[in-house]
Amino acid sequence: MSTIDKIQELKKRRDAVILAHYYVDDKVQAIADYVGDSFYLSKVATTVEAKTILFCGVSFMGESAKILNPEKTVIMPDMQADCPMAHMAEPEKISRMRREYEDLAVVCYINSTAELKTYSDVCVTSSNAVKIVRALPNRHIYFIPDENLGRYAASQVPEKHFIFNDGFCHVHTSISAENVRKAKEAHPGAEILVHPECTLEVTKLADYIGSTSGIIDFATSSPAGEFIICTEMGVLYELRQKNPGKRFYSVGHRQFCPNMKRISLEKIEDALESMSNTVELPEERRLLALRPLERMLQLGS
Ligand code: 13P
Ligand code: SF4
Repeated sequence: MSTIDKIQELKKRRDAVILAHYYVDDKVQAIADYVGDSFYLSKVATTVEAKTILFCGVSFMGESAKILNPEKTVIMPDMQADCPMAHMAEPEKISRMRREYEDLAVVCYINSTAELKTYSDVCVTSSNAVKIVRALPNRHIYFIPDENLGRYAASQVPEKHFIFNDGFCHVHTSISAENVRKAKEAHPGAEILVHPECTLEVTKLADYIGSTSGIIDFATSSPAGEFIICTEMGVLYELRQKNPGKRFYSVGHRQFCPNMKRISLEKIEDALESMSNTVELPEERRLLALRPLERMLQLGS
């Protein structure tokens, strides 16, 4: 029996559904039941009926699924697949900011540990950060952990005062404005599509800025035939599936997230077989982390 056949058989046996992010390997995206950006996947996690969610992504994604669905078994193919940025904020600094600004909202990118979420007022993803920040009654925003998404949101919501944190995604910050300009020189007719985890200098060059789903939707509906892609190259799978006649270019050789790429078909099979990589959270932490996630689902929909 092939690995894929075994996975299909185990899915039935475990009553499991497979969720995958656009950055995981093509072969994994191809067998997933749901593939999407972080906001879509967190919404899907609240509606699936299967008893088991197998999350093909990094730790904070499995954690968010578990926080939202305590009654379900959430398993990860590789427990070491973790987003470094998810850890890049400090609870002590959050407390300090709360003391300093009375009217403060701590806005936490979903790419964060469950612990950081417990200190936050609302979560956001790259697809809804602008909308949610704008809707908050607070004037002062402490945006954690990603400085670049925070700066992008601030540029769109100038009426608010932002305090930034120095977290970053090494994949997106490896894309320089110089790289993008060179790619544009090589492909002058191409549209530049940028994820807001990129630096502000790169977002300033963009024809479109948005989440992974946003980038895919934009390229699919655009009349242009060529695109320069400024995000992790896992999105190429869906871009090419939906747009076989269009061309997509990278801006360098570092647009790969090593943590997302840890997920393989073999690890999926092993996880479904052993059911050992379960995501567990102390109930007190889960309940505290649930509040900002629920507020995001409410304000972001
Ligand atoms: P989105 O798919 O929500 O744009 O997230 C990007 C990302 O970096 C996930 O790790
Ligand atoms: Fe984290 Fe960046 Fe990888 Fe996304 S692409 S999981 S933000 S390191």
